[in-house]
Amino acid sequence: MSVIDEGCAIFEKILIMSLFLKLLIAGICAFFIGKFIKHKSLYPFMSFRYDFRKRRDTFRKSMSLMKEFGAKTILETGTSREGLRGAKSNGAATIVFGKWAKKNGGFVHSVDISEESVNNAQREVDRQNLQDYVKIHLNDSLVFLKEFEEPVDFLYLDSYDYSSDVKTQKESQEHHLEEFKRIESRLHEKSIVLIDDCDLPNGGKGKLVIEYMLQNGWRVLIESYQVLLVRQDLILDETK
Ligand SMILES: C[S@@+](CC[C@H](N)C(=O)[O-])C[C@H]1O[C@@H](n2cnc3c(N)ncnc32)[C@H](O)[C@@H]1O
Repeated sequence: MSVIDEGCAIFEKILIMSLFLKLLIAGICAFFIGKFIKHKSLYPFMSFRYDFRKRRDTFRKSMSLMKEFGAKTILETGTSREGLRGAKSNGAATIVFGKWAKKNGGFVHSVDISEESVNNAQREVDRQNLQDYVKIHLNDSLVFLKEFEEPVDFLYLDSYDYSSDVKTQKESQEHHLEEFKRIESRLHEKSIVLIDDCDLPNGGKGKLVIEYMLQNGWRVLIESYQVLLVRQDLILDETK
């Protein structure tokens, strides 16, 4: 092989390697850009690192409505069993609404039937310094809601886990309907209701309760992974 041929072969290798390197860098950049686009934070309200994904926009709208109506009492069924670690999977609503309550003079009551869930959520409440704004109750939501006597400004239904099993799906849907019926008399004309895990096979947690609410003077404001409802005749500031 002549010196010129050898030189050409080395140059070809360098070209191939640099092309490979460029493709690798482009792939890594695309991966991180994709991740960044999918990342849905509640920044600056919450640290940017928490990704609320499919719940971000409905959380944001709920908080903006709460602010508009001066909400004070927030009631959640099913507590943040994974603390803030569960932002993407479970929502971490106890902490999100707890922080909102701290900032806006509200108070969160969160009820859960599992001692483990209650303990985990309480640890995160303590870590976030929200003890004066969040109370986590260990109880069956159906018992708790029946005994709850204050007017509820914001109701968040997210207890009985939904699954791929059809029997469990029905039980979860019936449970969430029953939860609503038990607290219905405490809701007023400006109450806001948010239901989690709705965009799932066979209607998700909200199927029966939403049907019931639509027949009883409520309307859907946002229908996505979560469903947000207000009274049919509630006048909203559409600029917000
Ligand atoms: C999906 S997690 C709640 C997630 C939480 N809302 C969040 O945003 O992080 C569901 C919780 O509902 C609780 N649960 C199930 N059945 C219940 C019932 N009958 N009463 C109260 N809580 C119940 C479970 O123990 C579990 O901790």
